[in-house]
Amino acid sequence: MSQPLYVLCCFFSFSLLFITTISQAVPAAYVFGDSLVDVGNNNYLPLSLAKANFPHNGVDYPGSKPTGRFSNGKNAADFIALKLGIPTSPPYLSLIAAPHKGEAYLKGVSFASGGAGILDETSVGFLRRSITFNQQIEYFSIVQGELVQQLGNEAARDYLSKSLFVIVIGSNDILGYFDPSPTAPPKSNPQQFVNSLTLSLTGQLKKIYDLGARKFFVAGVTAIGCCPSQRNQNKTGGCNEEANYWSAKLSEGVKYILQRMQSELKDMKYSYSDTFGILLQFIQKPSNYGFVEVASACCGLGKNNAEIPCLPISQYCPNRRDHVFWDLYHPTEAAYSIFADIIFDGPKQFVFPVNVKQLITM
Ligand SMILES: *[C@@H]1O[C@H](CO)[C@@H](O)[C@H](O)[C@H]1NC(C)=O
Repeated sequence: MSQPLYVLCCFFSFSLLFITTISQAVPAAYVFGDSLVDVGNNNYLPLSLAKANFPHNGVDYPGSKPTGRFSNGKNAADFIALKLGIPTSPPYLSLIAAPHKGEAYLKGVSFASGGAGILDETSVGFLRRSITFNQQIEYFSIVQGELVQQLGNEAARDYLSKSLFVIVIGSNDILGYFDPSPTAPPKSNPQQFVNSLTLSLTGQLKKIYDLGARKFFVAGVTAIGCCPSQRNQNKTGGCNEEANYWSAKLSEGVKYILQRMQSELKDMKYSYSDTFGILLQFIQKPSNYGFVEVASACCGLGKNNAEIPCLPISQYCPNRRDHVFWDLYHPTEAAYSIFADIIFDGPKQFVFPVNVKQLITM
């Protein structure tokens, strides 16, 4: 009689162990970047112009609440967290007053800030007063310090090595460079500009690695020339080919940096998404993804709903699921969701050398 009971106990403890191991495949996500993954940091920046904490943003978010996400609903950070089976990492600036910071930081943190770019000039110049990528990394070093305090050196290192580091940055640098406004800063030639971006990014990724990151998901720069605001700069309504050309160049640079990092740092692993290619698929084969409108923003006013941003006075479309773009720059919740599906589970054509699902089990 005692044998089956023993077997049963054994089975249960085995499954418990198994479940714990699986659920701890990624204990937490630490998110860096721009508005594509900002979940509310900019709400805490009184002087920032890059904000989305007002209607009609969030119209499809639970409770129809504007949260600071630049979307009609959830964004890429939310869908990646859903895929990982963990809660969305909260904004760093919302945790400043948390009584037990070490504990809060264990659950993941988002440093992402709308308007941020690789270069400090992008983050403070173009859309003004975002948390620069360098500052985001500074904040992460504070978080890392707290984790060491909380867990001890060894366990903190282990914890961070299993965590996922999500990095979505670069679009604003390209947008800022091609900003036609007379207040835009003077420009070097575009190749020099892209070289300065890749040089800066190399140091920034290395710094995140030095603080303990081992598993990186890095998004390539999207086909930014196809967002509604950029289309409006093309008389025929096509994509802004120059912005796309340099986005693709920057993406090549990012790919190269990651390959080199991995060959130099044996315990560094990464997944890279061809975000450019993914957006072009949405635009070229919309019906495959359930889209109808690929050029015009859902929320805004004027040509392509992209002359006036998504403000409370703007109109918004009833058929959000049909649109690739929510506002003049940002995807809809529907587009973010499909993007997350692809990076998590997708083919090598769009996500390599491994997808995120493979990365987290490595
Ligand atoms: C405008 O769009 C067309 C495609 O419709 C493209 O061939 C052309 O190169 C674009 N022009 C610019 C300036 O980007």
